[in-house]
Amino acid sequence: MRLLVTGELVGEQAMLDLVGALGDLRRAHRLDLVVTIADNVAITGPSPSDGSGMTLRQRDVLLAAGIDLILTGTHVWDGGHGRVVVDHPQVVRSANLVDDALRPGRGRVDLTVDGDPLTVLQLADRSARGSVVRSPFEAWQGQLTRPATLVHLIGTPYAALRFAHAVDGRCAAVIGSLTHVASRELQVLPRGTAFVADIGYVGPAGGIGGFEPTHFVAEYLDGDASALGPYRLRPGPTQFSGVLLETGAAGAVVELAWVLSLDPAVPAVPMSPAWDLRTPQPGPA
Ligand SMILES: [Fe+2]
Repeated sequence: MRLLVTGELVGEQAMLDLVGALGDLRRAHRLDLVVTIADNVAITGPSPSDGSGMTLRQRDVLLAAGIDLILTGTHVWDGGHGRVVVDHPQVVRSANLVDDALRPGRGRVDLTVDGDPLTVLQLADRSARGSVVRSPFEAWQGQLTRPATLVHLIGTPYAALRFAHAVDGRCAAVIGSLTHVASRELQVLPRGTAFVADIGYVGPAGGIGGFEPTHFVAEYLDGDASALGPYRLRPGPTQFSGVLLETGAAGAVVELAWVLSLDPAVPAVPMSPAWDLRTPQPGPA
């Protein structure tokens, strides 16, 4: 199974550019499944700290265009419409919210793609601002996932690293997101789990992860950006960051590569062989 997971969509234009390129990307990379992280598509308030996320209209634009699954982040609850947005079988919110039972939506989706199973599970770490969550590892244990599972871990690269090594060999891939700063290395961990600490974002280059830095700097220096008015995105064309993953039997990683352009003529950049850390596992005695 070949799937593409995009970085976090930053701004409406990034969404439109992805939607416009989707058919060509599917053909060029022979994709069975396209998954996006739509945590910063919308501007839903004056501050990027709690005024981002995704609107219902944007969710439906992505789904109508053929995106197979929409992952989210901590901002999905911004703007007050998160409960409606996540209430769809192709939208995944975090599975380890402390009030999970009271929330609509789902933190896990079990798919079958061309006869092959794939589970997608989203977990948030406490290192992600605004997350009121249970331990992602304990939540993962409770999910009883199958080997062909992709975990989206919302947290710092360090949190993603620790989680990924804790579950290495028991899922196909762990993909982190939070900082919008893509991690250079793609890895296959010693027991076979594919890993990227932060998948980065899709949106305008520069600023703080595609946003004008003004509000972030004011909050950093003064603790308050409320006098500044609405925040803005950086201008400029959409830069793309996404991970291509091909899995074989029982979720084993066959290919792992960066996709760094929406232009289907630009080839994927394969993982460096130096970061394939798989070690032969002892067979049955
Ligand atoms: Fe984000």
